[in-house]
Amino acid sequence: MATVLQLPQPTWFIGCGNMGGAIIDGWRAGGLDLNPITVIRPSGTPVAGVRTVASIGDAGFEPKLVVLAFKPQKLDEVAAQLRQYVGNDTIVVSLLAGVELQSLRHRFPDTFAIVRAMPNLPVAVRRGVVGLYGENLDAQAQAQRFVNDLFSALGFAMWTSDEQRLAALGSVAGAGPAYVARFVAALTKAGMARGLTEEIAATIAQETVLGTVWMASANHEDMASVARRVASPNGTTEAGLAVLDGDEHVLDRLIAATIDAAARRGAELAAEARRVEEPARLS
Ligand SMILES: NC(=O)c1ccc[n+]([C@@H]2O[C@H](COP(=O)([O-])OP(=O)(O)OC[C@H]3O[C@@H](n4cnc5c(N)ncnc54)[C@H](OP(=O)(O)O)[C@@H]3O)[C@@H](O)[C@H]2O)c1
Repeated sequence: MATVLQLPQPTWFIGCGNMGGAIIDGWRAGGLDLNPITVIRPSGTPVAGVRTVASIGDAGFEPKLVVLAFKPQKLDEVAAQLRQYVGNDTIVVSLLAGVELQSLRHRFPDTFAIVRAMPNLPVAVRRGVVGLYGENLDAQAQAQRFVNDLFSALGFAMWTSDEQRLAALGSVAGAGPAYVARFVAALTKAGMARGLTEEIAATIAQETVLGTVWMASANHEDMASVARRVASPNGTTEAGLAVLDGDEHVLDRLIAATIDAAARRGAELAAEARRVEEPARLS
């Protein structure tokens, strides 16, 4: 019989905004028992079915698993309070975009294992993509398996061999839902410009993206083939694709520039986090 996936008691979420909330929603949808979780967030805003407190001091027993789900800029502020609760049997999972493992290890020198996870928002409906990267995983195979199981419950989870690849995965998948959202919105606006109501235009744009990707995934079909099957020679779609592709592949260049800009910001965040204070000076 398969073993039931269980969160360790206690599990702390430090921060629970868009991404922390999406992960908890996904685990809830997957039937995980959320009782071990304590959410710590300054506002104390309740999270359905989960114990929520406003400060680390109110959280209780030292955690076995800590999910860092606040903005990277808050790392030093949080680490100064959290470090004393993170012991040599604690697994720290960091969602902090751009913050490298070495920067985390400096802040939490005693913790058993640190894993970086780069999820995207569809984890909330268990159709997410999660990039994972950890240190010294041969020695920590059990921790790796456990974190792998937790995130595989939220969609497609994969380990990367280095942090550059994790950053690459995050630049496409982590940020991707925002870009897809903009594409669907642009399709909606175009539908409205052709006389459709906003409601109809938005619905068909969304369903078209969902249906296309679903079909391709179900058929293991690549996107070039999908486009070929829609566009008959000299037909209407081909006229449209001629604009998107253009002489200079305008869409490819736009997306590449978009992802470059996000990657540059990721590098800046990593550099900020690298400017680490010595742990002794944090206490
Ligand atoms: N959003 C995404 O799609 C995405 C994708 C990949 C990675 N990430 C990463 O996930 C992390 C969270 O992003 P997000 O989009 O969820 O941000 P968010 O919606 O702004 O949530 C931030 C959370 O941090 C909490 N917080 C702020 N200051 C805190 C403190 N001093 N101690 C403890 N908690 C504190 C906030 O508490 P209150 O709720 O009380 O205000 C809030 O719950 C970031 O590091 C980001 O890089 C996000």
